[in-house]
Amino acid sequence: MGPQVQDNADTEILPPVREAAAVGSGPGSESYAGSVASVRELHKSFGSFQVMRGLSLDFQPQAITTILGPSGTGKSVLLKHMVGLLEPDSGSVRIFGKDIWAMQERERAELRKRFGVLFQDGALFGSMSVYDNVAFPLRKHTDLSEAEIRDIVKARLQEVGLEAAENKAPNEISGGMKKRAGFARALVLNPEIVLFDEPDSGLDPVRTSLLNDVILKVHAEDKGTYVVVTHDIRTARKVSDYVGLIWKGQVVYYGPAKEAFASEDPFVRQFLAGDSVGPLGMD
Ligand SMILES: Nc1ncnc2c1ncn2[C@@H]1O[C@H](COP(=O)(O)OP(=O)(O)OP(=O)(O)O)[C@@H](O)[C@H]1O
Ligand SMILES: [Mg+2]
Repeated sequence: MGPQVQDNADTEILPPVREAAAVGSGPGSESYAGSVASVRELHKSFGSFQVMRGLSLDFQPQAITTILGPSGTGKSVLLKHMVGLLEPDSGSVRIFGKDIWAMQERERAELRKRFGVLFQDGALFGSMSVYDNVAFPLRKHTDLSEAEIRDIVKARLQEVGLEAAENKAPNEISGGMKKRAGFARALVLNPEIVLFDEPDSGLDPVRTSLLNDVILKVHAEDKGTYVVVTHDIRTARKVSDYVGLIWKGQVVYYGPAKEAFASEDPFVRQFLAGDSVGPLGMD
């Protein structure tokens, strides 16, 4: 098979890039006149290793932004700064217009309730069943009755295909199932800001595709500002309104998905096409 044929085959299989028509509109969007999530000049070192090198990004309110970039480049560290788990060495993180490190820890904790977060490792509570993991935020942060909680948890578990696993412990289920349980838990409070760190890693292609459908469905229903870190170009094509490309602790590209996937920039092209030839190497 010649390279030309290979190219065509690839293009046929890839999902179309999403149209970003609905971005910024819809119920409730007026109340987001200001910035929902904004990172400015973020610097962070661990020891002598500088991870964040002046990263700035204003996340488009009510849109799904995917963050792509090579392994070890600071994507997870960025999300941890956004949810207030890591403190910048310098620079700021503003959530709903407020600098989260200019407030008391109590206020930061309140703010975290408005986030739905799926960390890269899934981070389920090992001593709780899948059901109890997903019910946990509802029990902790709402006054809902157990019957009401049951309806919500069942619906979320059904969405990710885990109804049959609700009584299992995290160590009894597969890596992909843990991811899906963590995903269900992250969305259970209908959060205004959703941070997903590689929700698709460890999932088979069909489940990845189904999970992307769930992301789009939940986002269409509940709105919210979504940040999805992924290495999967199909996921990026399918769910992104905007694409941010991060390299060595800085944003090297940010723009609407349509533009990103049509970009002539060698760096953007290399990354979005997954090419080994281009400005990016293994370092
Ligand atoms: N708590 C920490 N202490 C020390 N170094 C850290 C810490 N957290 C992250 N790092 C380092 O910061 C760099 C960026 O890590 P990060 O997890 O953000 O990468 P990433 O872009 O998410 O990569 P991947 O795509 O592989 O998940 C890495 O070199 C990592 O070793
Ligand atoms: Mg990561």
